[in-house]
Amino acid sequence: MFSRILRPQTVTVLGQYAKTFSTTNPVTKKVGVMGASGGIGQPLSLLLKNSPLVTQLSLYDIVHTPGVAADLSHIESPAKVVGYVGPDQLADSLKGCEVVVIPAGVPRKPGMTRDDLFNTNASIVANLVKACAENCPKAMICIISNPVNSTVPIAAEVYKKAGVDASRIFGVTTLDIVRANTFVAELKGLDPTTVNVPVIGGHAGVTIIPLISQATPAVEFPEDQLKALTERIQDAGTEVVKAKAGAGSATLSMAYAGARFAFSMIRAMNGEAGVVECAYVRSNVTEATYFSTPLVLGPNGLEKNLGLGKLSPFEGKLIEAALPELKGSIKKGESFVANM
Ligand SMILES: NC(=O)c1ccc[n+]([C@@H]2O[C@H](COP(=O)([O-])OP(=O)(O)OC[C@H]3O[C@@H](n4cnc5c(N)ncnc54)[C@H](O)[C@@H]3O)[C@@H](O)[C@H]2O)c1
Repeated sequence: MFSRILRPQTVTVLGQYAKTFSTTNPVTKKVGVMGASGGIGQPLSLLLKNSPLVTQLSLYDIVHTPGVAADLSHIESPAKVVGYVGPDQLADSLKGCEVVVIPAGVPRKPGMTRDDLFNTNASIVANLVKACAENCPKAMICIISNPVNSTVPIAAEVYKKAGVDASRIFGVTTLDIVRANTFVAELKGLDPTTVNVPVIGGHAGVTIIPLISQATPAVEFPEDQLKALTERIQDAGTEVVKAKAGAGSATLSMAYAGARFAFSMIRAMNGEAGVVECAYVRSNVTEATYFSTPLVLGPNGLEKNLGLGKLSPFEGKLIEAALPELKGSIKKGESFVANM
């Protein structure tokens, strides 16, 4: 499972790394999962527990974490797992964490947009992130809870209020890239592990902007197929919500994507050069003050924003269409914290 969650170009590096790990001086990380008992939280925690990059796993939720932690702790991998339950144990769960992944909050049901989750999830994320600012202000914060387009600005405003540097806050959009890679590979008969499609913008409907013109290997589609493929990537989350028929949204593929992002972050923090992931961050690339683009990750998180690259006219129009919604979602998140 460990090698399958990595892009092929990283397997060799981690193969070598795993060897070092089993000897003396592991450069590994304490990772916190907030919302660890949920549909995403549990499989995400399993993937993290299974990785030699993680030495300690701190599992927080308002329910069931003692059971999840006891269960995971029997797995024959080195990461030490501790479960924390309820607000009284939140601070302790975060102490010493170097990476915190947040999938806490309610998921969509059929007919709902991600923005419909705002009222519930905004305060959940704000409270958890406030606790991060107080207990692990240097940790990389990876936010999965929707609506990501608003929860990331919320987290950044909470950090600003607390006087903490907000540049270590990342909105996890990796599932959009994972989906784009899979769908392009299916259409072109390619091995999906060799495909990389940057997906930029935000993480909801038209704000999800796949850059098929920048895919590697290079692929081309007739106009109608390109439009249908783009719309499928934008609506892929809803495809899963409909198929689950009321039982939630993507959990297993999201756990995979969340683990992929966390592992990339840890590898970069450990000094591996050239680790690139798209993520939704504070940005001056477009008029929207938060925007996802490919980022070079480094020991301190965001090392370099690689920007938009060369866009096709079709992709330029997708950005134009995304900006109003994106700006509205950002404003909504920022106003929420201003009125807290
Ligand atoms: N970024 C993405 O690409 C992406 C993809 C899929 C889902 N999501 C989002 O991830 C979130 C979680 O989805 P899920 O399917 O795991 O939901 P879920 O309901 O199965 O799990 C959520 C967990 O959060 C916990 N929780 C609630 N309030 C909490 C709090 N205050 N502190 C800590 N934990 C708390 C719940 O007890 C539950 O265990 C949703 O908001 C969903 O929309 C994001």
